[in-house]
Amino acid sequence: MAEDALLSGIRKSFNIGAPAEVEILHGIDITLEHGAFCALIGPSGSGKSTLLNIIGLLDRQSAGRLVIGGKDTQGLDDAALTRLRGETIGFVFQAHNLIPAFTAAENVMMPMLLSRGWADAAMRAAAEALLDRVGMTRWRDARVGNLSGGQAQRVSIARALMMKPVLVLADEPTGNLDTAAADGVFDMMHTMNQEQGMTFLIVTHDPRLAKRCGRIIELVDGQVVQGAA
Ligand SMILES: Nc1ncnc2c1ncn2[C@@H]1O[C@H](COP(=O)(O)OP(=O)(O)O)[C@@H](O)[C@H]1O
Ligand SMILES: [Mg+2]
Repeated sequence: MAEDALLSGIRKSFNIGAPAEVEILHGIDITLEHGAFCALIGPSGSGKSTLLNIIGLLDRQSAGRLVIGGKDTQGLDDAALTRLRGETIGFVFQAHNLIPAFTAAENVMMPMLLSRGWADAAMRAAAEALLDRVGMTRWRDARVGNLSGGQAQRVSIARALMMKPVLVLADEPTGNLDTAAADGVFDMMHTMNQEQGMTFLIVTHDPRLAKRCGRIIELVDGQVVQGAA
């Protein structure tokens, strides 16, 4: 399988109260090749998060075909989608969504705790190895509430990678960070892409960071701008 995500004619409408239905995504065609390091840019409200949530199987499209990790998602029920999401996708959000009262290592272990069947020592070892990879070994037993924004975002990248996803979806992962911290987090993702071959799709407002991606997809008013990709 050469591609991790294949989108064909993806449309999304929201029901905003009778009788109005408003279409946000107007037929999106995107192929994400395995190992791609790709930026998704576009004005606020253009549909970037909506699109990411559909690719990440958190929300369903209204029309169109979505193939994730070689699996056509049409006809999959919620349980099957949840399983496919767990096996395939890692998420990094702008607000890191970590649990502040838990340590860095505990937060990274969380996806494995939820999926069960893992020995404590194996989980701990996997979490520590990932925290090492993102340069957070010193802080692995620190509560996340005591970390800086950049440090917390590194922890959330480690957590996203815990289940060995083929595709990492990051929605403005550096949006709350200063330039130096944003560069650090971005470099981290790039290294993971280069060394582990994980595919990344990164929403960013920062043209400087977007230019460092191998590919830029631009969304305007719910459509991919032709030529940009
Ligand atoms: N659940 C929802 N119900 C209704 N409208 C929504 C919903 N989610 C997003 N929208 C609308 O869809 C448009 C695109 O939103 P979004 O995908 O968040 O854009 P972006 O991430 O590019 O800023 C916006 O106009 C937003 O108000
Ligand atoms: Mg958004």
